[in-house]
Amino acid sequence: MPDRLPVAETAAAAGVHVSVQLAPGDRRETLRRDVLEGLTRTPKTLPPKWLYDERGSELFAEITRLPEYYLTRRERGILRERAGEVAARTQAQTLVELGSGTSEKTRFLLDALVAVGTLRRFVAIDVSEETLRESAARIASRYAALDVQAVVGDLERHLDRLPVGGRTLIAFLGSSIGNFPPAARSAFLQGLRELVASGGWLLLGLDLVKDPGRLLAAYDDPGGVTAAFNRNVLEVVNRELGADFPPDRFAHVARWDAENEWMELCLRSLDARVVRIRDLRLEVEFARGEELHTEISAKFRRGRAEAELARAGFDPAAWWTDAAGDFALSLARTA
Ligand code: SAH
Ligand code: TRP
Repeated sequence: MPDRLPVAETAAAAGVHVSVQLAPGDRRETLRRDVLEGLTRTPKTLPPKWLYDERGSELFAEITRLPEYYLTRRERGILRERAGEVAARTQAQTLVELGSGTSEKTRFLLDALVAVGTLRRFVAIDVSEETLRESAARIASRYAALDVQAVVGDLERHLDRLPVGGRTLIAFLGSSIGNFPPAARSAFLQGLRELVASGGWLLLGLDLVKDPGRLLAAYDDPGGVTAAFNRNVLEVVNRELGADFPPDRFAHVARWDAENEWMELCLRSLDARVVRIRDLRLEVEFARGEELHTEISAKFRRGRAEAELARAGFDPAAWWTDAAGDFALSLARTA
């Protein structure tokens, strides 16, 4: 497939404007750099955004339906109950959704903002192009009066490309903020603060600290869907960079780090082996039992989360949880 121009602007479906900030050539360059950097350091790592190719996005959608993965259901329940309040308080004209995926839960916010009559524009950004195109098209056909803008891009690089304007509400759901390591997380929150002018709002979905047994089940389901999702990153590197990882010889590992209060996800090499990454002309040695880190998923407590928001320039405005106290939605306003 020929590479597209670095920035392609296309009207993909009626009412959707798609801007591609991460064209195939650029994506490959970034992948090369990330893989080279990640596999030549100790411990070895691969950044989580490469988990989400088309197959990875499908597997993630499957995770959200697992009985053990309570996060999505809890967040959906809170959104259903509180979207009206969010709309009444924010009176948002622009709703921006970060890492939007299928935007399935977002309909509660869209419905509520349409009902208060303020919403004009919906902006979604995601690295997963196919999933983003599909969900943006679905939203445009369901909310015909909305200006729908889809940005294929990387949250850590392309925030400044988002077409924000008017009273803006940024939604970052699914506890995806927990997938940033702490330093990157505070830098990211500051980036969001710069993105929304004064009077802007941020709605964050946050998974809360709880019994480690439940966390372990949520990140290591007996059916192996999460394991397949985690291993999918090896399939991506095999396909995109001509590597020869045998995914079935890497075990999915999920563990609770009690000190940092985060889940740590990695892939453990079952053998001593040398993996060749053809396009990088790189050979990487794995010891038997060596772990390749793929993701953390931080769990939150109210005090710390709100303090972090305050440090980034957001005043906490509301904190809503489900009845069981599993998950929280935090609404904050620029200070
Ligand atoms: N918001 C959805 C999906 C969460 S999964 C929900 O709550 O269910 C995380 C999403 O973020 C995926 O769709 C993935 O493709 C996207 N994503 C991960 N890293 C990203 C990055 N660096 N930039 C942009 N999108 C990213
Ligand atoms: N944002 C999700 C979370 O932290 C991402 C996720 C769910 C995930 N399950 C995973 C990432 C398994 C890696 C492996 O819950």
